[in-house]
Amino acid sequence: MRTTLTTLQQYIKNNDKFTALTCYDATFAKILEDAGVDILLIGDSLGNVLKGESTTLSVTLDNIIYHTQCVSNGSSKALIMSDMPFGSYQQSPQQAFENASKILAAGAHIVKIEGGQVMAETTAFLTQRGIPVCAHIGLTPQSIHQLGGYRLQGASQQSAKQLIEDALLLEKAGARMLLMEVVPAKLAQEITQSLSIPTIGIGAGKDCSAQVLVLHDILGLYKDKKPRFVKNFMTGTNSIQQAIANYVTAVKSGQFPDHEHEY
Ligand code: KIV
Repeated sequence: MRTTLTTLQQYIKNNDKFTALTCYDATFAKILEDAGVDILLIGDSLGNVLKGESTTLSVTLDNIIYHTQCVSNGSSKALIMSDMPFGSYQQSPQQAFENASKILAAGAHIVKIEGGQVMAETTAFLTQRGIPVCAHIGLTPQSIHQLGGYRLQGASQQSAKQLIEDALLLEKAGARMLLMEVVPAKLAQEITQSLSIPTIGIGAGKDCSAQVLVLHDILGLYKDKKPRFVKNFMTGTNSIQQAIANYVTAVKSGQFPDHEHEY
């Protein structure tokens, strides 16, 4: 049976952790699902790991549609979430709807958009028209030039307060999940406890409802500077399948992330 948003709500009701990983093709879609990964994220990190770019900014709507179709063709069990790429949704809720509907037609079950309260109107517009949204706050790589680098967000009292307000507003607007990237673990815990929707963390500590990482990072393939929150699950095994299964077990049992992976 396929994982749905209802399944994820049930997980958080039961206090069960769940897992997400980025995925860009049919072969890995099946490998990840067979290892028990609940959400396959067609992330715009494909700009980095597939295209070799230093940012996600060049990723196009067509790139996301193509990789969503690839993943969808190989998938029968997981929830499929696709990033809306830079420039495909920021202009207006109407622009977001036009492009999100193409991503859903390609096989995604939910789209992810970056941004805090500025995205509340778009989130409401999409969710009221049948397109589920995962809101992405904290370090939002599509705003890298605005943020001035890949660094911890929500560290000051003022920015932490802003992130709490963003989270509550996005939930109220209809977001079905909230992804937090590179924020203090304590703040992510507070936000998770304040919401009734699941939270997904990447560099956000162990108290989120779920964890996500970039597939190439957990397989030790991406050799650029390794952020603190990344763990290479190939260590101690020579099987990709086993490494992914170990990631799933580590997240579900609360062993990953550890203190060394959080801020
Ligand atoms: O694009 C991506 O892979 C992401 C994750 C880093 C959360 O958005």
